[in-house]
Amino acid sequence: MLHNQCLVKSQTYIESIKDEVKYKPYRQGYHFMAPVGWINDPNGFIYYKGKYHLFYQHFPYAPIWGTMHWGHAVSKDLVHWEHEKIALFPTKSYDRNGIFSGSAIEKDEKLYFYYSAVRYLEQDEENIHLSKNDQIETSQAMLISEDGEKFDNWNGKKQIIPVIRDEEIADARDTRDPKVWKEDEKYYMVLGSTYHGKQARVLIFESEDGENWNYKSQCRKETYGHTMECPDLFKIREQYVFVGSPMGIQNDGLEYANQSVCTLAKFDVKTGELSLPDEYQMVDYGGDFYAPQSNLDKDGRRVMIAWMRMPKPVESKDGTQWTGMMCLPRVVGIKNGQVTFEVHPNVKENFEEIDLTKVVLKLKEKQPLWITTTLSEGEELEIGGYEIRLEDGKVVGNRERVFADMEGYHVENQTPKVGKSAKLDIFVEENLIEIFVNDGQYVLSHVVYGLGDTLNGKIQKVRVLK
Ligand code: FRU
Repeated sequence: MLHNQCLVKSQTYIESIKDEVKYKPYRQGYHFMAPVGWINDPNGFIYYKGKYHLFYQHFPYAPIWGTMHWGHAVSKDLVHWEHEKIALFPTKSYDRNGIFSGSAIEKDEKLYFYYSAVRYLEQDEENIHLSKNDQIETSQAMLISEDGEKFDNWNGKKQIIPVIRDEEIADARDTRDPKVWKEDEKYYMVLGSTYHGKQARVLIFESEDGENWNYKSQCRKETYGHTMECPDLFKIREQYVFVGSPMGIQNDGLEYANQSVCTLAKFDVKTGELSLPDEYQMVDYGGDFYAPQSNLDKDGRRVMIAWMRMPKPVESKDGTQWTGMMCLPRVVGIKNGQVTFEVHPNVKENFEEIDLTKVVLKLKEKQPLWITTTLSEGEELEIGGYEIRLEDGKVVGNRERVFADMEGYHVENQTPKVGKSAKLDIFVEENLIEIFVNDGQYVLSHVVYGLGDTLNGKIQKVRVLK
């Protein structure tokens, strides 16, 4: 059950990896990817001493999920990233099978990292990167880095929340992804968990110093699937917003049953009690987006980044293979009681307007584009084989023609109703299309393979990455 989408896929990939690599030879231009191999969740995302640091779940040896490391990159603007050495990797008995997801805070000018430490009780003899029979134990650990450049994996780690065996408090296997923040002079941590593998729950811990943690409370929710992953809790102005990735909420037999949701929430700092409504929105309606993490940008905006799940690897020009990437950084807001997501202004600044007649040429050259248009009910736009239409007041994205022979995935997704017309800002790259509806009211993103160079339908403006 644990991160089942990764494990199941990994096993299949191992059999077929050579044949699966069909689409060549591109790397993404401005969507963050690992230098090579596998990427999943963003971790430890933070602005620290003039730079953004992005860590991520990483398996460097192959484009499949395996023993998790934290890859690392830095950026001055959230757009141009420089790869750094792998930051966190297994060294301790408690984290021997993986440094799972977690977060970072700045304290006393240092960086404090929190992560889930995974230990297999039984290992798959044929693939040591996987457990056998889901026999896994998870504890929470931390590492302090003096400067965000050096990470002492041997002497700098500390287990802060040992495996919790009392099922009324947590689950020994499925309790993970610490997200830590400071509020009113105290430190808080949210953890994702499950109640008997049947009901999602979120745990709250509290600390005076960021190192010694006490259990405070928990919130169980029937409508949030069977297990919560990567919870995030933050304030926009004075309103708390909860974002999480519940497993098993979309059970239609297709990938992916696990989706990221968001909602306005109530949180009492004194008691640590979190209260969530039964209803929620999807952070992104395309279905590939997962495990987002947020933090404040340099100007105090709440910026979010997430993993875009990819069913198959892509081969770069140099012959290396990669699977998975990050979405564009998005600014979280609240409008009319609803959580909104807009492309970060730094991304927008990196585009310049070009003549509408140049779109096809730019698509041929595989250049990243930002296309703006307004669709009215019944209208359609086709970009390189990817189709967008407004039907029944909803924005529909269809990737049928650019997601060839991939069985078991959604090829068409839609937003909730938006009305008789919708303003669309469409960010197009070789392997990802992100559609922002009405300045962030909804987002729908789709991973694509083999995007073409046709354009049909009306567009108002087109910009190209500088
Ligand atoms: C979410 C997740 C996390 C876990 C990590 C493992 O995608 O399953 O819950 O920490 O990925 O790679």
